[in-house]
Amino acid sequence: MRVDPVGPLKGELILPGDKSITHRAIILGSLADGVTEITGALQSDDCRHTAKALVGMGATIEKLGDDQLQIRGCGLHGLKEPVEVLDVGNSGTSMRLLSGVLAAQPFFSVLTGDQYLRARPMARVTKPLRSMGATILGRDGGNFPPLAIMGTHLKAIDYVSPIASAQVKSAILLAGLFAEGETTVTEPALSRDHTERMFEAIGIPIHRNGLSVMVDGAKKIPAFQTAIPGDFSAAAFFIVAALVIPGSELTLREVGINPTRTGLLDALRSMGAVIEIRRERTISGEPVADLYVKSQSLHGTELAGAMIPRMIDEIPVFAVAAALATGTTTIRNAAELRVKEVDRLAALVTELRRFGVQIEPRPDGLALHGGSALSGCHCDSWGDHRMAMALAVAGLAAKGSTTISDSSCVSSSFPDFWTRLDAILPGAATPCG
Ligand code: S3P
Repeated sequence: MRVDPVGPLKGELILPGDKSITHRAIILGSLADGVTEITGALQSDDCRHTAKALVGMGATIEKLGDDQLQIRGCGLHGLKEPVEVLDVGNSGTSMRLLSGVLAAQPFFSVLTGDQYLRARPMARVTKPLRSMGATILGRDGGNFPPLAIMGTHLKAIDYVSPIASAQVKSAILLAGLFAEGETTVTEPALSRDHTERMFEAIGIPIHRNGLSVMVDGAKKIPAFQTAIPGDFSAAAFFIVAALVIPGSELTLREVGINPTRTGLLDALRSMGAVIEIRRERTISGEPVADLYVKSQSLHGTELAGAMIPRMIDEIPVFAVAAALATGTTTIRNAAELRVKEVDRLAALVTELRRFGVQIEPRPDGLALHGGSALSGCHCDSWGDHRMAMALAVAGLAAKGSTTISDSSCVSSSFPDFWTRLDAILPGAATPCG
């Protein structure tokens, strides 16, 4: 894709549905009794992989409109042994959350994914799920996919996770629905809490105590109706673009603003940004609002600790904001970025240097010296959707054209990113060749 700096972003955008919440609604709808209706569902490759895996085990999932899904669930104990290997493509959320469900099934299943997912660590879920009783095999002692899972009647555990990961927490909570007794997960810092909120919203009892969450084994899940808010992580690219491109004024409608996801807003505020939150309301247990963003000058900041899990997916685009801010920005405690779709710290250093950014890697973060103009360049997404979209924002703010190779990977989370970008900024995104 070629990206050209064609001027300010003006107007309004509605973002696609939240990816994390869509995965959870598809999984819980497939385990429910009766017909579940989901509006605002994200129709992206990652969510389709979750749906396809569940269809392979007996759920019926129908697409009614652009963003509507109707699911005829199998009931909590009604999934059937899949005949095929369950290939979840690039989706870490599908693999980890489904592992939690599969660990509890009285059958054998195999989960695999693309070349990127097969290199991502799974011991973080296989270890606790094994201690609940499941038999899970995989490469490197169960750390790398494919994972072969022989489920069983699980026992509840009290698990203290060494990492703040919503995927780990959710895998164990989903397994906990099938276990005897109370399952507890404690994390070192709060990760996104969509699973907990959805359990609550659909009537599955769940208790929280500080950084611990408790769930009891369930008898059944009733079918439900849910509306999914716009994806804050998709909004993030437009928020940063509107802040850094002079003359911009943009309203993003119906965006999820769950505080476990909006660390980016706090980070940008600490750089001097003013972002208005308007029409705040709650939809299906999740806070939603319109965000109003105007271009502003930013200064460097420091990012560490509990902020990191609250903006774990936004660090690539945050780094672009930091490159355009005056002064130095440091990011620490973000080693998790090395095991995302790709090593995002390494990818950011390599790719932002092509724009002329002064950026240095740290074992668990980055140091960026911002404030110099970016120069358009040829860069590469590394096959990572969020890298591709962050590089597009850099291209919009750079002098001259930028080309991004392997740009179609945006289909994991935001399939029409390039057409939406070109619609709001005509001439901004042109397919090459
Ligand atoms: C997700 C959790 C996050 C995030 C991922 C989606 C989820 O991963 O990076 O894109 O839906 O639970 P971790 O919880 O492993 O940090």
